[in-house]
Amino acid sequence: MISKAKKLAAEKAVEFVQGGMIVGLGTGSTSFFAIHRIAERMKQEGLNIRAVSSSTSSEELALQLGIPLVPFSEIDSIDLTIDGADEVDGEFNLIKGGGGALLREKILASNSRKFIVIVDESKVVNRLGKFPLPVEIVPFAAELTIKRLGKLPCTPEVRMVHGKPFLTDNGNWIVDCHFGEIADPGALSRQLKAIAGVVEHGLFLAMTDTVAVGHTDGTTRFL
Ligand code: A5P
Repeated sequence: MISKAKKLAAEKAVEFVQGGMIVGLGTGSTSFFAIHRIAERMKQEGLNIRAVSSSTSSEELALQLGIPLVPFSEIDSIDLTIDGADEVDGEFNLIKGGGGALLREKILASNSRKFIVIVDESKVVNRLGKFPLPVEIVPFAAELTIKRLGKLPCTPEVRMVHGKPFLTDNGNWIVDCHFGEIADPGALSRQLKAIAGVVEHGLFLAMTDTVAVGHTDGTTRFL
């Protein structure tokens, strides 16, 4: 049922895609549906777009589906990026990075004229923070960076896969920081960015233009 809601949100957002656009492709299970819908519209309507991708997994999917990718050297900006999120609050602030692609996702979002977030209803919250905040750090001296993260009011946990630290597409680690409710996302963003060794974090603040929410009852709405 949740995947149906994700698909609905994704398809709603893809209605904003127009011929000639440079489209940023998000990462994750909701973006999966958006990428499929874009490919479908290309086939059905002859929609002509070029894309950039926020991860190797979305890039591979786009290539499989015949969506042309454009090198960053050939563009100045992105017309529209469509991406999922782990949490969205009423001010359109997000937590992202559950899939570990937050750095590339943030680069795309911040270079996009329009950024549409696609979520199922379970992701909409009053306050961010129940979902552990993913923070991307360089592996060098990671232990020290993690100690500094632990001095914030959070419990840091290195994301592991098969007994080894999960590696992002950029060769970095993800530390999932359990904060509980985040009272001041702006202040936390600044604190995190001030820690040497932190490459990026999953708070996406004041970047989102539109949030499409899919509901398990088959409806969609914009926040
Ligand atoms: C990837 O790193 C994330 O930012 C995803 O966009 C986010 O975790 C949402 O994922 P789902 O669409 O799979 O829920």
